[in-house]
Amino acid sequence: MKKTLFLIPIIALMAACGQQRSSGIRDVEDFNQGWKFSLEADSTAAAPDYNDRKWRTLDLPHDWSIEGAFSADNPATPGGGALPGGYGVYRKHFKTPDLSGGKRVYLCFDGVYWQSTVYVNGKKAGFRPNGYVSFEYDVTDLLNKRGDNVVAVTVDNTNQPNSRWYSGSGIYRNVRLKVLNTVHFVEPEVFVTTNDVTEQSAMVNVSFAVTEGCDVNVDVLAPNGEVVATINDKIEANAAQVDFKNLMVRNPKLWSPSSPNVYKVVLTATSDGKVVDEYATTFGIRYFDFDPEKGFSLNGKSMKINGVCMHHDLGALGAAVNHRAIQRQLEILREMGCNAIRTSHNPPAPELLNLCDSMGFIVMDEAFDMWARKKSPNDYAQYFAEWHERDLIDFIKRDRNHPSVIMWSIGNEILEQWPDINTDTLSIEKANLMFNFAAQLSNKDDDKTSEMHINSLLCKKLVGVVKSIDSTRPVLTGNNETEPSNLLFKSNSLDIIGFNYHEYNWGEAFKKKFPNMPLVITESTSALQTRGHYIAPADTQYLWPVRWDIPFDTEHHKCSAYDNVRAPWGSTHETTLKEYMKYPWVSGIFVWTGFDYIGEPTPYGWPARSSYFGIVDLAGFPKDVYYLYKSLWAEDAYVLHLLPHWNWQEGDIVDVIAYTNMKDVELFLNGESLGKQELSDGKLHLSWKVPFKPGELRAVGHSVDDIEISDVVRTAGAPSRLASTADRYSLAADGQDLSFVTVDVVDSKGVIIPDANHLIKFSVEGPAEIVGVDNGDQCCHESFKATQHTAFNGKCLCIVRSIKGKTGRVVVRANADGLAETEVEIYTK
Ligand code: GAL
Repeated sequence: MKKTLFLIPIIALMAACGQQRSSGIRDVEDFNQGWKFSLEADSTAAAPDYNDRKWRTLDLPHDWSIEGAFSADNPATPGGGALPGGYGVYRKHFKTPDLSGGKRVYLCFDGVYWQSTVYVNGKKAGFRPNGYVSFEYDVTDLLNKRGDNVVAVTVDNTNQPNSRWYSGSGIYRNVRLKVLNTVHFVEPEVFVTTNDVTEQSAMVNVSFAVTEGCDVNVDVLAPNGEVVATINDKIEANAAQVDFKNLMVRNPKLWSPSSPNVYKVVLTATSDGKVVDEYATTFGIRYFDFDPEKGFSLNGKSMKINGVCMHHDLGALGAAVNHRAIQRQLEILREMGCNAIRTSHNPPAPELLNLCDSMGFIVMDEAFDMWARKKSPNDYAQYFAEWHERDLIDFIKRDRNHPSVIMWSIGNEILEQWPDINTDTLSIEKANLMFNFAAQLSNKDDDKTSEMHINSLLCKKLVGVVKSIDSTRPVLTGNNETEPSNLLFKSNSLDIIGFNYHEYNWGEAFKKKFPNMPLVITESTSALQTRGHYIAPADTQYLWPVRWDIPFDTEHHKCSAYDNVRAPWGSTHETTLKEYMKYPWVSGIFVWTGFDYIGEPTPYGWPARSSYFGIVDLAGFPKDVYYLYKSLWAEDAYVLHLLPHWNWQEGDIVDVIAYTNMKDVELFLNGESLGKQELSDGKLHLSWKVPFKPGELRAVGHSVDDIEISDVVRTAGAPSRLASTADRYSLAADGQDLSFVTVDVVDSKGVIIPDANHLIKFSVEGPAEIVGVDNGDQCCHESFKATQHTAFNGKCLCIVRSIKGKTGRVVVRANADGLAETEVEIYTK
């Protein structure tokens, strides 16, 4: 093989390369439109001549569960979100693409929940049980030579519970049809790595596979699109792995959360002078270290990974992936100062990783919530033996070029941590509670033999699988057994110790038990809050439930936004943060969770159906504790947030809290000072006990650099009108873009009514449609897919989507009985 290496950046090549590339070489078609769908059919509907005319027509991504009605009787149980599952069939007709010259056709699925079987013209292309991995089928040989074809996808989410949280059902991520020439790059084999990274230069290595001999050119493009390195070579025959090494990039722009510089490599295959394939992938140039003493550093600079855990649902949109909805979640988290996401507990949508790359979030990318031992009666454990290796490999290969991905997690609270934990006979709610007590329940006496336990061997094997395809990132697991007796730790194969909870073990105890190992808090906190609901006294902690096997309930089914309710295995936000900040060796933390998610409504069962763990509620409205994080994590932000609301009874003594990073804060009730307090002695909040008088409570803070800011809460009068704001007033007319319209119930002066629960009716005029409504109430059973919804604690959300190809003025109106209506104007372009 002849090799020509150009180690010097060849900027001049840019223009030439631009000419060389022609579009349509690799034909990747958005395959989301015009599907037929039925929940009544069975697999006979895969037959090409099956009559689907009466079926519903829809576009993907689609989650049928989110369209259903909440019921305690749904087999998912409230733990799974109390929405229906079932068996769904999707069908789509399509024309045979041009197959000249031996072209190959692939159907690519980013994710189907779950147990999907794909048929083309009645012939099976493949079965994929895992609901989160991306997969593709070469369907060339199943196509008719010309004319019409039918793809049918059966999705089986009947046997439940199979998840500890809301999974969604259906083809809930994007689908593409790819037509490639016989000579093409094998996508998952393209792997970009870097080494010898400094501010002055970096070496980029590109390894790839190509199906036949050809000339291959690789360009490295800087974030501004400039070609900064090029290499080319003749590949004699089909090659499973070709390595183009040491492409030097001078003065690289390093990737980090504060400067998320994304590079690109473009691979071009030429055969007989004709370009036959072109494939591009993004990557980043950065280096990092997890130090057992000093913690995490990125590009030589020490920093903390201030992260949150996120499940994949998008609130009222369910699991159906939407770029803008994910972006909005990340924007809200970024504003809080969060710089990292854990994709708990499964492979995420590719959109999430692209956004994390470009917005600058560090990602702990997670593969599994269970291995061979199940956590819920019908979960993936049944497929683990046969599928884990393939799923793991496909996952790592798909995600390994993302600069945001810094750690691989091969599992969360895997029951194989212990020799003997079994949850087979428990309901999902009980099992969910019990896992967190597992350490106390387990028999840890497995040390009798010097041979490695089978569970440790399994862990070692999985780490080996990951390392065989990506040795550039550390591998860890999220562990609720934090003692060295944990069989996963005993495999000696993990690069980082990951602790879930157990904050009393993060200090010196950790260093003694795990000498020379880095530590990441893979999960923490599990504090419980309902937005806008306050249970006093604020300084009393409530453990809800007290223990996994002690039933717990209240009449109101709410938790408290004072940060004084927590699950017993967790800790309040404040306690956790204090502990986290103490130890330099703690590289980072992933708080459970950034947003509320559907399912797992700890500490309650039905009527609760979504979680209370979020720093932000399901609708995307921050709870008060959001400002605690902001005061600590957001760089250069002056924060002063006062709680609670100011509608109480005369004579009440109200616990008033300020989350702030000001040096001191003075509180005034109706202009009268209630005293100034200093944020000293490690305090993370300030508090006052205030005898309630209606009016205005004002906090005035001064920073160390003498900036003055204030926050105010006022007593609301009678509900008078609705007030609305949109997160975006201009949308792309692509049928995907969203505006999140918030509607508040306010009095005549604009003060929000803290307990308003009016029924709000939405309507849209112009080229857009309502695709979701919500209020963040964990117990609400109204549909997310309606055009009306009650407000909860004064707030309501309406999600509006543009319509493909239709531009113009959109007016979103909201009205409620007895209140003046409101409207916002949005333009779609
Ligand atoms: C953890 C678990 C999470 C979630 C959380 C609730 O133990 O990893 O998935 O269940 O508890 O507190």
